[in-house]
Amino acid sequence: MWSNEKDRALRERAAEVIPGGMYGHQSTALLPEDYPQFFTRAEGTRITDADGNEYIDFMCGYGPNLLGYGHPDIARVVAEQQARIDTSTGPSPLIVDLAEALTGMISHADWAMFCKNGADATMMGLMMARAYRGKRKVLLAKNAYHGSMPWNTPRPGGVVAEDRAHFIYFDYNDPQALTDAVKQAGDDLAGIFAAPFRHDTFADQGLPDAEYARTARRLADENDALLIVDDVRAGFRMARDCSWETVGVRPDLSCWGKVLGNGQPISAIVGSNRAREAAQSIFVTGSYWFSAVPMAAAIETLRLIRETDYLEHITMIGDQFRKGLVEQAADFGFALKHTGPSTIPMVLFEEDPDFKLGYGFCRAAMKRGVYMSPYHNMFMNAAMTRTDIADTLEATGAAFEDIKQSRASLKPLAALAALMEA
Ligand SMILES: Cc1ncc(COP(=O)(O)O)c(C=O)c1O
Repeated sequence: MWSNEKDRALRERAAEVIPGGMYGHQSTALLPEDYPQFFTRAEGTRITDADGNEYIDFMCGYGPNLLGYGHPDIARVVAEQQARIDTSTGPSPLIVDLAEALTGMISHADWAMFCKNGADATMMGLMMARAYRGKRKVLLAKNAYHGSMPWNTPRPGGVVAEDRAHFIYFDYNDPQALTDAVKQAGDDLAGIFAAPFRHDTFADQGLPDAEYARTARRLADENDALLIVDDVRAGFRMARDCSWETVGVRPDLSCWGKVLGNGQPISAIVGSNRAREAAQSIFVTGSYWFSAVPMAAAIETLRLIRETDYLEHITMIGDQFRKGLVEQAADFGFALKHTGPSTIPMVLFEEDPDFKLGYGFCRAAMKRGVYMSPYHNMFMNAAMTRTDIADTLEATGAAFEDIKQSRASLKPLAALAALMEA
């Protein structure tokens, strides 16, 4: 029987010692009521909360779990490396091995630098673009997430207008809007940040349009500016290369994180020779950026990416998930919108402006052992099997039935309503 007694007790303690009880994207503040905040175990495709409830996890740690939590090959190299050296006074030789592995796999990359989080990599991309020719203006697609630094955090707290002084925003997948934004930058264009696909929160996703991607490349070249693809979220879930290889466009820089160590803390920025001088001109560092254990994990993760059919598998599993949910929804009289790559799917209900249906549905599925997000894209991992999808559909079938019965009494979440209004 599902219960959340321990989770509630932990939340009460957390409210005393952690501002807001929890912060950032792993806070449950915007998730349906009763979503567990604390987890004690993760294995394969499943997570267990503090009360011992187990879930098939469609969030994958918001991305990092690509090959399965605790993948044995990665766990083995992590333990072996841990016994030798991790954080010390200089990097281990693994940093060279890893840079060689990554540049060998990413077509546009001639060099690589490593850091910890996606936001480190996007910050380095920003600095390199400005260092490249000493120009200031940087173009960003509206609502595209690139991290939580003052220049890109989606919420206004702690940000002053000057932090955003040199950014120009355009509509994703719109070559004309991009062209207009470049004109606005005049002779001061440093770089164009490109999301590999449109992954706005609370909204339908959109695959990249080839014409738009080619326009971004051409405008960067004509203005002697750098094109940066932020592959932190989509990396290795759209291709075994930079995600924009799918539309035949090569950036100067690309940012990586999340899956790179299959959960071990490591991210990277890679670039072409055109950007090499800019890359070596900036000073960036971090106490843990050179640690060897996450690098060992990344080398093994990259090997598995090269040598297994993980991408074909997660595409097949994602298609099954998508097809099963859409058919099931129709049987219960609901219409779903399923957008984005099938390995990173977004599932929203049609005609659900205040997300009442989505929230009610996810909450009902969660109580039956399936952890999904009602407003954020989800992630597939290679440990997921057809049986997991069958189990998922059994739970979601009951969840659809549940919201069909309780439709009239479903309520929008207050915190979400306030955010949507803002
Ligand atoms: C596209 C994109 N860029 C950057 C980031 C920031 O990564 P991190 O949270 O590791 O700093 C994220 C995180 O979700 C992301 O999705």
